[in-house]
Amino acid sequence: MMTNRIAHAGLASKSRSAQEAAALIHDGMTVGMSGFTGSGYPKAVPLALAERMTTAHQAGERFRVKIWTGASTGPELDGALAKADGVEFRLPYNSDPIARERINRGEMHYFDMHLSQVAPMAWQGFLGDLDVAVVEVTGITADGDLIPSASVGNNKTWIDRAKGVILEVNRWQNPALEGMHDIYYGTALPPHRIPIPLVRADQRIGQPTFRCDPDKVIAVVETEAPDRNAPFSPPDAAAHAIAGHLLDFLSHEVRQGRLPASLLPLQSGVGNIANAVLSGLIDAPFDNMVAYTEVIQDGMLDLLESGKLRMASATAFSLSPEAAARLNNDMHRFRDKMLLRPQEISNHPELIRRLGCIAMNGLIEADIYGNVNSTHLMGSRIQNGIGGSGDFARNAYLSVFMTPSTAKGGAISAIVPHCSHVDHINQDVQVIVTEQGLADLRGLAPRQRAELIIARCAHPDYRPMLADYYARAQKGSFGLQSPMLPGEALAWHQRYMETGTMRG
Ligand code: COA
Repeated sequence: MMTNRIAHAGLASKSRSAQEAAALIHDGMTVGMSGFTGSGYPKAVPLALAERMTTAHQAGERFRVKIWTGASTGPELDGALAKADGVEFRLPYNSDPIARERINRGEMHYFDMHLSQVAPMAWQGFLGDLDVAVVEVTGITADGDLIPSASVGNNKTWIDRAKGVILEVNRWQNPALEGMHDIYYGTALPPHRIPIPLVRADQRIGQPTFRCDPDKVIAVVETEAPDRNAPFSPPDAAAHAIAGHLLDFLSHEVRQGRLPASLLPLQSGVGNIANAVLSGLIDAPFDNMVAYTEVIQDGMLDLLESGKLRMASATAFSLSPEAAARLNNDMHRFRDKMLLRPQEISNHPELIRRLGCIAMNGLIEADIYGNVNSTHLMGSRIQNGIGGSGDFARNAYLSVFMTPSTAKGGAISAIVPHCSHVDHINQDVQVIVTEQGLADLRGLAPRQRAELIIARCAHPDYRPMLADYYARAQKGSFGLQSPMLPGEALAWHQRYMETGTMRG
């Protein structure tokens, strides 16, 4: 176990303050930062960079950079840089409210990507050069290898691709993280790609550390700062109802012989509904489950502790402060049941398809044909991004989307005639669940889907409106495969924008 966090003498001699390290980043640069949800992101250099940006802007100078990460990060990174108006371009995922505002005001470009595609695209060269990587690590070995932190994300790629590397060594990260990571170095570009040799969720195919040429490291900054993930509010009645419908359905699938009694590797999106499903699995009749997913969240710790979940493979922790403290105190009990991998592996379509994952993700709206919008409000305002939902939904054995049937206190139906934006086409959406019920869409044609979704998933307040639209669409539509009245489909959203309500 690590005693000295920076055991490599050459790298120890590169110790710098956050301000000195931030001074190595200049206007116009592209910076690849660690971080996947509020864990494992650098916490000191981005803050110092934001200060430099503010000072430069006050002096009338331009100072904006392009930021690449694993996914969302914490307020010290996305929040601080967006507040300083220092981000010209951002990929691949954002959930920070200040950055979200800037994106929606048109002040910041945002390339919202499938998370599995970020590292391959960086290697393919489509994204341009990477000037600097800023990566949080738990420690540095005597050989100069890097012990990853609470998220792996795209760090391997940033370290390999960047011209210079800044390391933040965070003492807050538990030294017991050492050995929990599986960093696979076998990916290549076509025509040299070979199959990824992973056939079980618990399999190790790589090494526990990142390789890094010490000569590329331009600064090492020591920090002691906690990860910051949002606390979960307890699941409400709708979340419990959604979880109940889904768990009944999974039991039904086991009885039908379409799923094994231990289910198949679980992928779970983040948020309170996903957490309610995971909590519900504690009392469900499935044992020996595994997770092959993006993030390990609170509900998964409970499942691991109960023994129902045998192990979880992910790319990051996404734990509330209480759960993070619990994990830190009890790391020895969880350590051998968890593996963190690069996101190009945790989200790899080849592996998701091979393992046969059960994908469970949230949505903003679904239409009566089963197309799903996960990202945009009213068709134009980005909420977060597609994240890993596309990687999983398209390739899963079973692709489930979950949502309360209404949003904004009942003023908007989450089931609409046509989505105002589509992230997941109906072919990638097999099951939709709301607190009203569950629609199993597998094997159904569009008109069969419409009847089921309206009957099972829509809120009773909106069911008559949707049924009326669908009946009229069947009479006035250009074709009857997916009946649509184009003007009216858009007016559905327009009504809310004008009056604040969709009712009536
Ligand atoms: N119309 C208008 N607004 C809507 C809406 C709808 N149909 N549905 C939700 N909203 C609003 C909510 O009111 C809320 O607004 P507020 O912040 O002003 O209160 C906001 O959108 C977020 O909704 P909420 O219900 O809090 O979201 P959630 O935590 O259940 O998450 C998603 C739902 C879709 C936003 C989330 O799952 C997501 O970002 N998914 C994409 C990425 C993903 O799936 N990642 C996991 C893959 S591994």
